[in-house]
Amino acid sequence: MNPDQFQGPALRVGVVGIGWAGQQHLNAYSNSPGVEIVAVAGMEEELLHSLQATHAIPNAFLRWEDMLELEDLDAISVAVPTFLHAPIAIAALERGLHVLSEKPLARTADEGRAMVEAARGAGRVLDVAFNHRRRGDIQTLKSIIDEGGLGRPYYAKASWLRRTGIPRLGSWFTNPELSGGGPMADIGVHVLDYALHLLGEPKVLSVSATVHAELGPRGRGGSARFSAMSSEHAFEVEDFASAFIRLEGGATLLIEAGWASYREKDDVLGFMVYGTDGGAELVAKGSPSAPVGQLTIFTDKDGENADYSPESQPGRGHQAVVEDFLDIVRGGEAVWGHHDGSLALNRAEIIDACYRSAREAKEVQL
Ligand SMILES: NC(=O)c1ccc[n+]([C@@H]2O[C@H](COP(=O)([O-])OP(=O)(O)OC[C@H]3O[C@@H](n4cnc5c(N)ncnc54)[C@H](O)[C@@H]3O)[C@@H](O)[C@H]2O)c1
Repeated sequence: MNPDQFQGPALRVGVVGIGWAGQQHLNAYSNSPGVEIVAVAGMEEELLHSLQATHAIPNAFLRWEDMLELEDLDAISVAVPTFLHAPIAIAALERGLHVLSEKPLARTADEGRAMVEAARGAGRVLDVAFNHRRRGDIQTLKSIIDEGGLGRPYYAKASWLRRTGIPRLGSWFTNPELSGGGPMADIGVHVLDYALHLLGEPKVLSVSATVHAELGPRGRGGSARFSAMSSEHAFEVEDFASAFIRLEGGATLLIEAGWASYREKDDVLGFMVYGTDGGAELVAKGSPSAPVGQLTIFTDKDGENADYSPESQPGRGHQAVVEDFLDIVRGGEAVWGHHDGSLALNRAEIIDACYRSAREAKEVQL
């Protein structure tokens, strides 16, 4: 649905969490017609009241539990540390609310499964914010692959690598009880999501992964750009992870997710793929990543080199995520059942398998 054409009763939404992610949701709801933000929750009191004023939100709470006591909420966004995704989403779904959760779905696939079951039981939407697959350059490449422009992809590599990008040393991100894991869970889940999306959602057969914690435990590689919450936890997760993934049909995918390592200064978010009739390379540098990366298609025509660089528009990130969620909610019961969090659960199962593979130092079948 084109939001400009929206007519009907306003959807009443609440946002839990007011860090970077929660603020993306607030901005996106504010920019969407037919939406009333009726509540916001977060523990940074000054920021909470400033965001309440900016977005003219009638209710502000320090605790998410109080927000869920409100009457007449239709939907909430969950943008809090990952250990709270499942309890908040399940409580909201059981109250009949639709939920847009931040990634990763949860700390583990078991927690994620409980969320999906709650969505199915309640007959409500559980959607997850995978904003990077909505990048314009990724969508351009997706169209080229879908139209057969590269033939059959047989090898791909997808990476998000930072030089000093630990999301604040000592924050909840670096405590596995609160986050579920380091960069594999945090940014690897985005990389995995856009890679599988680009490759047409092939089934994952097995993973062989490694994780390393070389810089974080020595107080290196931290960035103050991340996390609104105070820092007091030890560094107990990995700072670099890699996984070799076998896909149904014979293709393989290599994933790299690093918060910190001795590499070039610019962060890079990338994807490269080799297919039977062409290859592609996408590189988006910077922190945050450039809105449009460099995309090159390598191919030939009648035996001659026919490489080219297609144009892409900047993606709309969380705005697109939120608009899609609103469309699904407005779409009614007929569509809700197709949005029960299963896709995010699939990602959680693969990430779980990666951590198990790294722990046991062997390939793990899915
Ligand atoms: N999609 C993306 O690109 C993206 C980017 C960053 C973070 N995230 C995800 O968003 C989530 C939040 O990350 P962040 O970087 O914004 O974290 P953050 O640490 O900056 O903010 C966390 C927020 O949660 C609030 N919170 C914690 N406990 C609460 C409680 N009991 N009641 C109410 N509020 C509570 C805090 O007050 C804070 O406002 C994480 O799941 C993260 O993985 C997604």
